[in-house]
Amino acid sequence: MKTQRNVISAEMLARQEGYMEEAAELNAARGEPVYALVDTYGCQQNEADSEKLRGMLRRMGYTMTGDEAEADVIVINTCAVREHAEQRVLGNVGHLTHTKKNKPSQIICLCGCMMQEPGMAEKIRESYRHVSLVFGPHVLWRFPEYLLGLLRGGRRVFAVEPSDGVIAEGLPSARDSAVKAWLPIMYGCNNFCSYCIVPYVRGRERSRTPEEVLAEARDLAARGYKDITLLGQNVNSYGKDLDAGVDFADLIERINDIPGDFLIRFMTSHPKDAGEKLFSTMARCEKCARHIHLPFQSGSNRVLTAMNRRYTRESYLELVRLARSYMPDVVLTSDVIVGFPGETEEEFEDTLSLVREAEFDALFTFIFSPRTGTPAASMPDPFTRAEKQARFDRLVELQNSISEKKHLSYVGTTQRVLVDGRDGEYLTSRTSGGRLVRLAGGDELIGTFQEAAITGSNTWALYGQLCQEV
Ligand code: SAM
Ligand code: SF4
Ligand code: F3S
Repeated sequence: MKTQRNVISAEMLARQEGYMEEAAELNAARGEPVYALVDTYGCQQNEADSEKLRGMLRRMGYTMTGDEAEADVIVINTCAVREHAEQRVLGNVGHLTHTKKNKPSQIICLCGCMMQEPGMAEKIRESYRHVSLVFGPHVLWRFPEYLLGLLRGGRRVFAVEPSDGVIAEGLPSARDSAVKAWLPIMYGCNNFCSYCIVPYVRGRERSRTPEEVLAEARDLAARGYKDITLLGQNVNSYGKDLDAGVDFADLIERINDIPGDFLIRFMTSHPKDAGEKLFSTMARCEKCARHIHLPFQSGSNRVLTAMNRRYTRESYLELVRLARSYMPDVVLTSDVIVGFPGETEEEFEDTLSLVREAEFDALFTFIFSPRTGTPAASMPDPFTRAEKQARFDRLVELQNSISEKKHLSYVGTTQRVLVDGRDGEYLTSRTSGGRLVRLAGGDELIGTFQEAAITGSNTWALYGQLCQEV
């Protein structure tokens, strides 16, 4: 599907630069440090957006803090994908009435996918009067303008006009890690899976140009990032809206050609667009991580059709075989929904049997959450929450036993890992397939590739010892 690419002009972005400078001057005139806090819910796309929000806040003179009481500006970047995430956000925003009472000048902002839902902005306007700024993902690039207006004493802002989405290049970004970087390559989704709200709140699929993506990848590699994750709701439909003659596999190949020692990861692929070209490219490109996250959602063909997923159980399992024929060591992870409206016991058993057959290394399991406005929210749903929970528990138990077995097979092997941080007494590191390896060692190893002898394992992690430095 070709969509209109709405690229924000350099001139409009330059105006935002001007607003950032003005805000920085206002803040400097206060003669004391000003603090900001950005709290993120949801997927990696939101994490990447929050890095941009922090980048803009820094340019406006703010120092980041983790303390709500100290913050002059609080931004909550929300997720709408399941009801539970929304309730957590609303609960936390409710609590901020106390911090605002103690610090009346505090500016509380809400942004992200949840704000784009019909009726949400109204609800905030009426019931959360301590919130001053509400904006959707399509106008994230205008954050400096909105915040400056409030710093000058302006009225509450609600910027949640419906939109098919935009591309805004060149926003500053304050990245959370010096080792791993998110690299959004496309935004939005055209798939309209019947349960999912993302296409409604994030707009249509739009790809960044290969030139923009490659320039950012080159910059990240030159700055020493060792792990670059290409992001999109549906990364492997990259380029379909461009006339650049570059598809997702071609893009991986071009990034692979950039000099440097780094890994290329990507999230998330849709089975309908995955196939031989992607797997053979992954196998050929030495920088491409041996990991594919390929959500299957259900093992029942009836449910897959009702979900509008556009593949079958059989074609999904065939894809898994194909991926493994090109990369026998590939780590395969997936997403699944339990309790889709009307899912019968038999259909749930189809999901269990697919999990047994595919033998995923790890699985992200979700209980269906009705999202207003999506087709699935109005489908008959005769099963109770307790019945769905019982199925969910059975599925988790099955997957845990598979993950445990898979992890055990690493014991006695040596893995090249990227050390990415520390968690208590252990360094944390990841294999090319993205498996967590806990290691003893000093912080100076963070950001380096190492060889690790795997000595132990459980369902969630591997344990290892450092070999010679590589
Ligand atoms: N674009 C990706 C894809 O198609 O696989 C994932 C997007 S979504 C942010 C992440 C996961 O949330 C989905 O794969 C699905 O399993 C789950 N999900 C989405 N909508 C849901 C809903 N209404 N209820 C429960 N889980 C949901
Ligand atoms: Fe949602 Fe489906 Fe799009 Fe993924 S592909 S974001 S599950 S509509
Ligand atoms: Fe949530 Fe929006 Fe991501 S709904 S999962 S934050 S795209």
